[in-house]
Amino acid sequence: MVVAPTHLLAALLALGTLVDSSLASAVPDELATSSSDSASLESAFSSLNATVGGRLKRAVPFEAPCFSIVEGQSVHVDTAACSAIQASYTDPTFRVTHFGAYMLPQWETCQSSPTTEGCLLDSSNPTNPLAINGVNCQLGNVPPYYIEVGSYKDVQAALAFSNSTGVRLSVKNKGHDYKGRSSGKDTLNLWTTNLRSLSHSATFTPEGCVGKTYDAITTGAGVFTQDVYQYADSVNRTIIAGYHQTIGFSGGYFLVRPSSLPASP
Ligand SMILES: *[C@@H]1O[C@H](CO)[C@@H](O)[C@H](O)[C@H]1NC(C)=O
Ligand SMILES: *[C@@H]1O[C@H](CO)[C@@H](O)[C@H](O)[C@H]1NC(C)=O
Ligand SMILES: *[C@@H]1O[C@H](CO)[C@@H](O)[C@H](O)[C@H]1NC(C)=O
Repeated sequence: MVVAPTHLLAALLALGTLVDSSLASAVPDELATSSSDSASLESAFSSLNATVGGRLKRAVPFEAPCFSIVEGQSVHVDTAACSAIQASYTDPTFRVTHFGAYMLPQWETCQSSPTTEGCLLDSSNPTNPLAINGVNCQLGNVPPYYIEVGSYKDVQAALAFSNSTGVRLSVKNKGHDYKGRSSGKDTLNLWTTNLRSLSHSATFTPEGCVGKTYDAITTGAGVFTQDVYQYADSVNRTIIAGYHQTIGFSGGYFLVRPSSLPASP
């Protein structure tokens, strides 16, 4: 989609101010905007949420329960939630269930700001207090809003929203994109992780084709590679795909599936 730069800028500025007062602290002062822009964007988000059946969510940093300062505000540490995060901090099967968690944690952080914005624990020692005490936990490069996509209609709604507001889109599946393309500061993210359909047909016909059939497995955008391996086994077929259970099977920016590791969102 092509969006006029001034339109895009205005929308991004508005996005920064409405995210909420705490997030606004992460938006530089020069990005102030008129209240009308902010109000119309807020109303656009609200109507988007209605269109997608309430599946529009506001992101929080994955590690936030461990911190007493979040986006510059004093908050209560959630000791139980923090302990669970610390215990499984480097476990992909745990991280994959959280929108704010990425497999390469640097993509949770924004490195283009004067000081890196983010909210990371010490990966080699998640209980290390030096990474936590007195540190301001920020959303960083994690998209402030996301839709837990339920069907193609949610994607259509997001595209129309982006077209009319200028808010950029990003797409996340399992968070394995090692080039960081599945996060993005100030973007609206399409989280495809719940699209888990799996089916097999020995006589599959691609849409629009006649006369030729294929032995094929069809997967939703959010299916785990592990689940495809097991499904293929159950129907006596073999699949060649990614090395890790939590890698999303479908898609990839070059449509080569995650067997090309950097191409998996
Ligand atoms: C979207 O609507 C649902 C259901 O009403 C609500 O729980 C959720 O907080 C809303 N999302 C946002 C970003 O306000
Ligand atoms: C994008 O917006 C323009 C008007 O700004 C409208 O004409 C066009 O139909 C929109 N496209 C989509 C896909 O919503
Ligand atoms: C599985 O597929 C192989 C290769 O087509 C075939 O030889 C074998 O009989 C199949 N096994 C079952 C249980 O269908």
